[in-house]
Amino acid sequence: MTLTVDQPTPTPSADVCAEPDSLDALVASLPERDLTQDELLTIAQRLAERPHLWRDLVAFDDDRRHFVQLHRDGHVDIWLLCWTPVNDTGWHDHDVSSGAVAVAGGALVEHDLVLGGESNERVVTTGGSWAFGPDHIHRMTGLDDRSVSVHAYSPPLWRMGQYTADGGVLRRVSRSYADELRPID
Ligand SMILES: [Fe+2]
Repeated sequence: MTLTVDQPTPTPSADVCAEPDSLDALVASLPERDLTQDELLTIAQRLAERPHLWRDLVAFDDDRRHFVQLHRDGHVDIWLLCWTPVNDTGWHDHDVSSGAVAVAGGALVEHDLVLGGESNERVVTTGGSWAFGPDHIHRMTGLDDRSVSVHAYSPPLWRMGQYTADGGVLRRVSRSYADELRPID
């Protein structure tokens, strides 16, 4: 089942600088603790709305998804991800981290795993965003050519779970945050 969702309009967190003119200014405004999902969502949205802060880092590759870590400290990591319609993360979790995604250009599909059935899919277009907790398992694929998204995680990603369904048996493989997530079936 594929659903196209209305663009969500979550309430921005007051803990995050409302008009950052640089990534440093945004980071300097963050509280020195692990961040809430609302705060992560606000970070991703603020950056997605300001392409002049990351435009020079954009690149696309069908074979190896292009991604750049914009910031990392003890409480949060922030990434720029670039997507072609071929790029596919495969099923994965984020271990103990909560996360947020804001689509800065193009469109992505988020897939939610349904055991024994077709996965649920959501198309999220430019301006759309969502947040999730560490319990979330999903798969993300590019939809439009040259799509771009900003992701924020707290605590910072360290290990992630990548899933394979070998012979119908679901198995989890631990991956480093620095590895490219991709289907391993
Ligand atoms: Fe993810």
